[in-house]
Amino acid sequence: MQTVKIGKSDVTTTPLGLGTNAVGGHNLFPHLHDETGIKIVKTALDNGITLLDTAYAYGLGRSEELIGQAIKDYDRSKIQIATKGGQKVTDQGDMVVDDSPAHLKQAVAESLKRLQTDYLDIFYIHFPDGKTPLYESVAALQELKEAGKIKAIGVSNLSIDQLREANRDGYVDVDEEQYNPFARDAEKERFAYLQENQISFVPFFPLASGLLTGKYSKKTTFAEDDIRHDDPNFQEPRFSQIIKAVETLRPMAKAHDATIAQLVLAWYIKNPNISVVIPGAKHPDQALSNAKALNIKLTDEEYKAIDANLR
Ligand SMILES: NC(=O)c1ccc[n+]([C@@H]2O[C@H](COP(=O)([O-])OP(=O)(O)OC[C@H]3O[C@@H](n4cnc5c(N)ncnc54)[C@H](OP(=O)(O)O)[C@@H]3O)[C@@H](O)[C@H]2O)c1
Repeated sequence: MQTVKIGKSDVTTTPLGLGTNAVGGHNLFPHLHDETGIKIVKTALDNGITLLDTAYAYGLGRSEELIGQAIKDYDRSKIQIATKGGQKVTDQGDMVVDDSPAHLKQAVAESLKRLQTDYLDIFYIHFPDGKTPLYESVAALQELKEAGKIKAIGVSNLSIDQLREANRDGYVDVDEEQYNPFARDAEKERFAYLQENQISFVPFFPLASGLLTGKYSKKTTFAEDDIRHDDPNFQEPRFSQIIKAVETLRPMAKAHDATIAQLVLAWYIKNPNISVVIPGAKHPDQALSNAKALNIKLTDEEYKAIDANLR
């Protein structure tokens, strides 16, 4: 089994994980069912995936609760749980970010309870709060790491300058940011910084919310309550340009007896800048299909061709 190490931590995991914002993320997607969410998690775990990427923000704890239920019958030591925190709901019902050391310590304690476990493999600061110095937030996580509550320290949604601030004392193990072949900002400066500082990279929205699966045509439309309705990638002329580029992968996918999504996931797995790719799934069959990307081995030429075609 291929494994990757997370930053300077002792965490090792599979290079393909499961994104779980559609497991219990009722505040993010309409028409989700908890039972389906549990099945998605179990299908991923039964098919070679060991890392689950969740967050308090996905269903305000519901995603973590469902994962806690789903993993009960599994060997905890063989699963890596990555969660994120920092948000809280005020008495007025507003969602705010609070990355103060006290709140992050409370957030970790509450995530542990919902997940019914006694350690987190990765805890990410989900968003900067704009007031707590990021190195102070990270120092609080370092204390939790030393106490064995978390095994690796993660950050997310940071500019490169904020990442430098967060990693002032060298404690950050992993950075999770938006990156896909059509959103390559991280290639400018971030990847070099991460490699120099032994920080792993996890790209989010790796399938560009389904666009990279090759399942859409120019005629596809989205309901107003679907996040894709207002996503710039799904607006013309960009939508058609991406669909055309993704279509060029079909013959190579066929040659591997694979889907386009599996081929794209294999491209991430072979990418030296990426540690773990975490596609989301809304159905167990999507999780099953995505897990099979672990079996695809791309040649260097195929890797370069996919990279060149998806731009
Ligand atoms: N750190 C952060 O701030 C942050 C932000 C966003 C996401 N994330 C993490 O990143 C993960 C991935 O992002 P994401 O799930 O939003 O987007 P994604 O991985 O780019 O796309 C996932 C969506 O694509 C479709 N899909 C997945 N597999 C498919 C398959 N085999 N065939 C056809 N369609 C398929 C499904 O949507 P449909 O069935 O509706 O088409 C699925 O919900 C999340 O789950 C979350 O854990 C983190």
